[in-house]
Amino acid sequence: MIYKAEGSFENAVSIAGDMAYPGYVIRGKERSCMIDAGINLYGPLYMRTLETILGDPGRLDMLFLTHSHYDHLGAAPYLSRMLPALEIGGHEKIEELLAKEKVLKFMDTLSEVQREMFQEIVGDEDVHLSPLLLDHRLKDGDSFDLGGLTCEVYHTPGHTKDSISFFVPEIGALFPGEAAGIPRGEHCEGIQVEFLSSYGDYIQSIERAASLKPRMIGMAHAWVLTGDDAASFLEQSYHETELYRKQIESFLNDCSGDIDAAVEKMALAEYDEKGGIYQERNAYMTNLSAQVALIASMGNTCSPL
Ligand SMILES: [Fe+2]
Repeated sequence: MIYKAEGSFENAVSIAGDMAYPGYVIRGKERSCMIDAGINLYGPLYMRTLETILGDPGRLDMLFLTHSHYDHLGAAPYLSRMLPALEIGGHEKIEELLAKEKVLKFMDTLSEVQREMFQEIVGDEDVHLSPLLLDHRLKDGDSFDLGGLTCEVYHTPGHTKDSISFFVPEIGALFPGEAAGIPRGEHCEGIQVEFLSSYGDYIQSIERAASLKPRMIGMAHAWVLTGDDAASFLEQSYHETELYRKQIESFLNDCSGDIDAAVEKMALAEYDEKGGIYQERNAYMTNLSAQVALIASMGNTCSPL
């Protein structure tokens, strides 16, 4: 089944925030953790929805972050300021990145352009991004006992070098961030391929996620997949990633290996003419440039479509 990312699942997972930037709250008998805290402007909304879910936002024990993009950790500094006992966990690179003034400013710029849209949520609260100290520098193989539920940590790079996936084996629930792509379209009719740091790592991460045989996947944006739809998403994601690589190779061949020309040609054909890509054009171009450069660096050895 395909559900909107809202409400509760398996009597153990509830969604804070909303379906655009869901924070997955996993409630064990003794401890609770939330996976991801989207853009900083959502900080006050996470506080309000955590109150509904837990009775008191202060009952949230841990916040775990899937990767270092502004729309997955932006509200973490705010929540850390509001909830001083909250333990924050993520890949160690997150702490290094958020220590840099330039990175904080860039993330701030990316979220501020959306302020008008979310003004009602943020009000006049101070949600500024600030350096974040990690209580848990998460590594592959870590696991956290929540009481009846375990939150297992898997390093799943490829989208970013610091991508982490979380798996709760007792309920078969996987929270991969964007490590295995994200559903695209109004009805999940496609998959947005998301390798940005390494194609090979990304493929391996999808295989690793599939090996866990999840019965539920809490996607980083918008959707929760269960049952056969969870299994088929990972299969489809693997397949579409390979097709996408071949498509990029084809554009590179057409442009004699010229990366910039291939990016322009592919954007014109896929984004402008074909359409159906629900992503702001500048963001699409930034990601596409990284992906074409990665495929070019692998050598154009595979046959085009
Ligand atoms: Fe991301």
